[in-house]
Amino acid sequence: MNRVNFDRLAAPYEWLERLSFGPYLHRCRIAFLEEMKSAESILILGDGDGRFLEALLNVNPTARIESLDISPAMVKVARDRVASDHAHFRVEDARTAAFETEGYDAIVTNFFLDCFPEKELKSLIARLVPALNPGGRWIVGDFREPNGPLSGPVSRLLLAGMYLFFKVATRIPASTLVDPVPILLSNGLERIRREESLGGFLAATIWRKPGHFPSA
Ligand SMILES: C[S@@+](CC[C@H](N)C(=O)[O-])C[C@H]1O[C@@H](n2cnc3c(N)ncnc32)[C@H](O)[C@@H]1O
Repeated sequence: MNRVNFDRLAAPYEWLERLSFGPYLHRCRIAFLEEMKSAESILILGDGDGRFLEALLNVNPTARIESLDISPAMVKVARDRVASDHAHFRVEDARTAAFETEGYDAIVTNFFLDCFPEKELKSLIARLVPALNPGGRWIVGDFREPNGPLSGPVSRLLLAGMYLFFKVATRIPASTLVDPVPILLSNGLERIRREESLGGFLAATIWRKPGHFPSA
């Protein structure tokens, strides 16, 4: 298992993102924020610099939130950004971290699942689904290979460039984008809603684990 390292990107991360994608990534991140209002326990994986966490605390200041990231520098930026007794930070590798069974009403993975090759993604998702309460929600914000006018060589080139950059800068284990949709479906999750932006290059999706939502 290779050692991923986002530390060097932690400080300039927000500005690099704004320069390359303007407001679109953040809009994708928070597309389904309102769905988190009634969740009492939330796990955010690969939370990065804490911008989603900050927005989450604005709509739901009382939930018990675990924010997990492998990068100590990212966690420091997130910790400096939010001051809340409800947010607990974990510096851990999600591939080996332990998660409480049926411990969370919601899981959030924004621009995180795209860090993994297929085998690791399958194993991670299979370990996370049992951690979600029946009826729980899972927000996934990620890049996609678009259909329509932006599909084809241009999007493939753009994605290849992004993976090259992240591979060199952070040593992510993935070399190409793996579609998590069939893996989430095969683990029994139901897709509730999906919103695309940037011509389908970005997708925010909210998933549900069958069963009764404890906080509803
Ligand atoms: C592309 S950034 C996305 C950050 C944030 N979620 C966002 O929306 O901008 C990926 C994040 O996942 C973290 N990460 C990558 N691999 C990880 C792993 N195996 N375990 C935990 N965190 C990881 C990185 O440190 C980084 O903060």
